[in-house]
Amino acid sequence: MDEITISTTLQVYDNINELPKDIQSLMDSAIEARNNAYAPYSNFNVGAALLLDNDEVVIGSNQENASYPSGLCAERTAIYYAGAKYSKAKILKMAISASSQNQVTDKPIPPCGACRQSIAEYEIKQDQPIEIYFMGAKGKVVKSKSLSNLLPLLFDNSVL
Ligand code: THU
Repeated sequence: MDEITISTTLQVYDNINELPKDIQSLMDSAIEARNNAYAPYSNFNVGAALLLDNDEVVIGSNQENASYPSGLCAERTAIYYAGAKYSKAKILKMAISASSQNQVTDKPIPPCGACRQSIAEYEIKQDQPIEIYFMGAKGKVVKSKSLSNLLPLLFDNSVL
């Protein structure tokens, strides 16, 4: 039997003010996007903002449904909108902020597994890493230089 070890490296900023100015501004867009979340069931608002290589910023927020699985996360709302509206543009950076209406969300909230798989598809399609920054409502911000750091052993089209 062989064993493999998978490791990843992430950067951690103490708070939003430590981020480079352009990322602060992208994170501000994600925070603002939380206001458009439709989350009457979870009371958990998530906002995402994408910076594209055509300088457009595309936002998304989670949109829930009485039939729970029909809802969609903020990250996928944003990334599918970017794909639909700017199909030729590359996605350079993604900022995510999440806030619970029930408690203070003061630790970084990473994208869920389904969102990671969806973001991976676009990273592979554009053959260029997508930088990802995620936080709660306040506190530390985590940076991943590429989606692939967050999803080892991802499923891709090479096996289809
Ligand atoms: N949610 C997101 O928008 N992104 C994630 O990565 C995790 C979860 C949303 C889905 C649902 O509306 C609420 O947060 C609670 O799961």
